[in-house]
Amino acid sequence: MKITVIGTGYVGLPTGVGLAELGNDVVCLDIDENKINTLKSGKVTIFEEGLEELFKKNTENGKVRFSTSFAESIPQADLVILAVGTPPNPITKEADMKYIKAAAESLAHHLQGYTVIAVKSTVPVNTGTAVENIVRQVNPTAEFDVISLPEFLREGFAVQDFFNPDRIIVGANTQRARDLIAELYAPFKDKSTILYVSRQSSETIKYASNAFLAMKIQYINEMADFCETSGADIYEVAKGMGLDSRIGAKFLVPGPGYGGFCFPKDTNAMAYMGKFNGVDLSLIETTIKSNERRKINMAKRILDMVDDVKNPTIAVLGSAFKGGTDDCRESPALQIIEIMLAHDVQIRLYDPQAMDNTKAILKDMITYCNSAYEAIGGADVLAVLTDWPEFKELDLSRIKQLMKRPQIADYRNTFDCTEAKNLGFEIKSLGRKL
Ligand code: UGA
Repeated sequence: MKITVIGTGYVGLPTGVGLAELGNDVVCLDIDENKINTLKSGKVTIFEEGLEELFKKNTENGKVRFSTSFAESIPQADLVILAVGTPPNPITKEADMKYIKAAAESLAHHLQGYTVIAVKSTVPVNTGTAVENIVRQVNPTAEFDVISLPEFLREGFAVQDFFNPDRIIVGANTQRARDLIAELYAPFKDKSTILYVSRQSSETIKYASNAFLAMKIQYINEMADFCETSGADIYEVAKGMGLDSRIGAKFLVPGPGYGGFCFPKDTNAMAYMGKFNGVDLSLIETTIKSNERRKINMAKRILDMVDDVKNPTIAVLGSAFKGGTDDCRESPALQIIEIMLAHDVQIRLYDPQAMDNTKAILKDMITYCNSAYEAIGGADVLAVLTDWPEFKELDLSRIKQLMKRPQIADYRNTFDCTEAKNLGFEIKSLGRKL
């Protein structure tokens, strides 16, 4: 199948490369010339486990190409996938549709033959209809269907998730479009469910899923706080809860609050849609507020550990919003650092992948280090804020030698508390017996 993917970000690029690996002829289209030139020169523009190998293979064999030209990339496509950003409006937090609308208008001019236009970006309900109207207005004789094809890839696991989807949701109102998608995902038909629904239902499924997962995380974070006061252990509690198949074992890991470009944006957009439609979505609204409070609370807990030190040095491990990605957008780690910087503190940071993205945001407000041990050197407290697996391999004895004071705020539950305590550390973690 000939496919054009518009948008080469964290969703578009892995999707384009993954579809090429399945044997399709893919063009990845972006209006950002710098990005396309970098991709054309053989460099991957984002960090995603396993993407580089697939990218190399499929660019070398010509299955995936890159372009900034709608005129060159749209006419031959059987399927055009919209994977452009829908950033939040800074004031209302509703999803901003300007990139979707612009892409719909640009592609409409060049449609030739029957084309399915699939909206993969997370978009407000009824965007499919809006895109359909734009295309029809620009090109009244075009033969096309607009469908909703929401994305469920996790950053850091995008390649793995692409080839092993739990489910594929297709919001399509015509059989012709459904048949094309059935052909596209034929390689997955034995391992995942393909669910055909209306466009509106499909658009809602994406928001409802992300908002539910965000609530689930906030719930386990509250249970972790409760465990700290009751002597229970959050891992034992989560395991016991997760054995109930109605609850499920996943997404019950406590942390410093959920972040990333998706959950904060989508919960806010859903809350906005609830208000707009006059529907009470107070569970989601409470989740958003509690998640904000949690990051303030995490910063306060770290600062409390050094409130007797003048101008303390805080070593921070991790600035990405979670392990496995270089993405710092809406990162709880960065937000906690920013809150702490309002006080008289020095921050020394190390992150295995996110240093460049962090520097672009925090500039010279903190010290950037080349390794975890370098960041820890001379610190009064060590705060672990991102769940990078490599932090688990750090040697606590060496950390103790390097620190000014043996104190750890372990807000990703990285270290063994008993071992840390036996070595003489004061350690604070989330929901664990100390
Ligand atoms: C999320 C969804 O999981 C994907 O299914 C969806 O496709 C994606 O948003 C999207 O809408 O594009 P992602 O943002 O990559 O994926 O991140 P997650 O792995 O879901 O983690 C989100 C946040 O929750 C992170 O800050 C993470 O540390 C936190 N989290 C996650 C926890 O604190 N505890 C958990 O048990 C799980």
